[in-house]
Amino acid sequence: MQSIRGTKDILPLEISSWHALEQIIRLLTSQYGYQEIRTPIMEYAEVFKRSVGEETDIVGKEMYTFPDRGGDALTLRPEATASVVRAAIQHNLTAQQQIARLYYVGPFFRYERPQKGRQRQFHQFGCELMGAATPEADVEILTLAHDFMISLGIQSYQLQLNTLATPTVRQQFKSSLVEYFSAFQTELSEESKSRLSTNPLRILDSKNPGDKAISEKAPSLLDMLDNESKDHFDAVLSMLDGLGIPYSINPRLVRGLDYYSHTVFEITSTSLGSQDALGGGGRYDHLFEQFGGKHTPCIGFGFGMERLLIALAAENTPEIQRKADVYIIGFETNESRSAVIQFAHTLRMSSKKNIITDVQNRSLKAQMKEADKLGIEHAIIIGPDEAIAGTCIVKHLKTGMQYTKKRSDLDGLFEV
Ligand code: HAM
Repeated sequence: MQSIRGTKDILPLEISSWHALEQIIRLLTSQYGYQEIRTPIMEYAEVFKRSVGEETDIVGKEMYTFPDRGGDALTLRPEATASVVRAAIQHNLTAQQQIARLYYVGPFFRYERPQKGRQRQFHQFGCELMGAATPEADVEILTLAHDFMISLGIQSYQLQLNTLATPTVRQQFKSSLVEYFSAFQTELSEESKSRLSTNPLRILDSKNPGDKAISEKAPSLLDMLDNESKDHFDAVLSMLDGLGIPYSINPRLVRGLDYYSHTVFEITSTSLGSQDALGGGGRYDHLFEQFGGKHTPCIGFGFGMERLLIALAAENTPEIQRKADVYIIGFETNESRSAVIQFAHTLRMSSKKNIITDVQNRSLKAQMKEADKLGIEHAIIIGPDEAIAGTCIVKHLKTGMQYTKKRSDLDGLFEV
């Protein structure tokens, strides 16, 4: 039996980097006043179809959708924004002009071709700021994303920004794109040809070299902005400048989900391969109405956690992952072994130390060797004499320094 293609077991050796990542996420989100939301892994398929868009790759090709035994079409969530909006409306999280600052961490599912940094079950950390239309809200989300990179120590990242303007301007832009690209019908890739009628914006971010060359001279949305879109975007950029947050403007950045308007962004890293987006997001001002809720402007982002860990591993030398602080070592006698078990229990209860003991009846030498291998700091040895005398030998494994202490002197145990 093997795990499903595109899914991965996260093994004990890797888990400490996940924990470290999650710890930074919890610290940073609480500094910004964001609270965690946990929505179900499954939603009615309609939740994503209506929001992410029928013509997107995610809905068209990548969703795990199946009928349940009652005949309802359910989907394993491919992203979180739609679920969070569904939950916010259902539980009235933004009633009476309230702002909701939410974050999430968890698994997502997309039926994509697996490769480095691309899986069928992957994990995202995301934030959603709901109920504010101001450029200040965009800047809060962008600053949070920037600070996240800094807290992780990821140096190789780039913030790319664009605006998708208002729905009206975007519609005009789509028409001018269709007009422009129609002249190149025969030269476009098959995929872009079909996008001409379904989702012409996505031709702009095609990776096909022929399409790219044609896109070079395509009309730019930045030249067509109305005052509202231009003022909003300019305000965001000038606040970012004031904060000293570096960015570049990428007029071809359109994102793969339909719900965006105004500011959109992606954070890429050169430490990744072809799947170079660590995260992305943007403003989605009309999703609440699409779900039957009140007009509630929002902005948010999602980061791929596997990709964050790939970038981190490429940039930092991994620390030795210490599995415990203390190894309590016994001899092969009954007194010694039972003293070890009892003392391990006492010490776990009274200190914050992580403690392991041998459960295989191994020799003193084998236990010492294992403690060393595990990167443990202190060994506590309770031989037959120490077992009777109520003492133990504390040995600092790096320096080799050791001393005898009373086992009842828990406070002074690791002081020397
Ligand atoms: P997204 O760009 O589709 O946006 O996904 C965000 C991030 O999830 C990507 O940048 C990437 O790091 C990671 N990701 C996506 N698909 C995979 C995959 N198959 N394997 C590994 N990692 C993957 C969203 O999902 C939006 N909901 C973000 C958002 C939140 N916009 C507003 N609020």
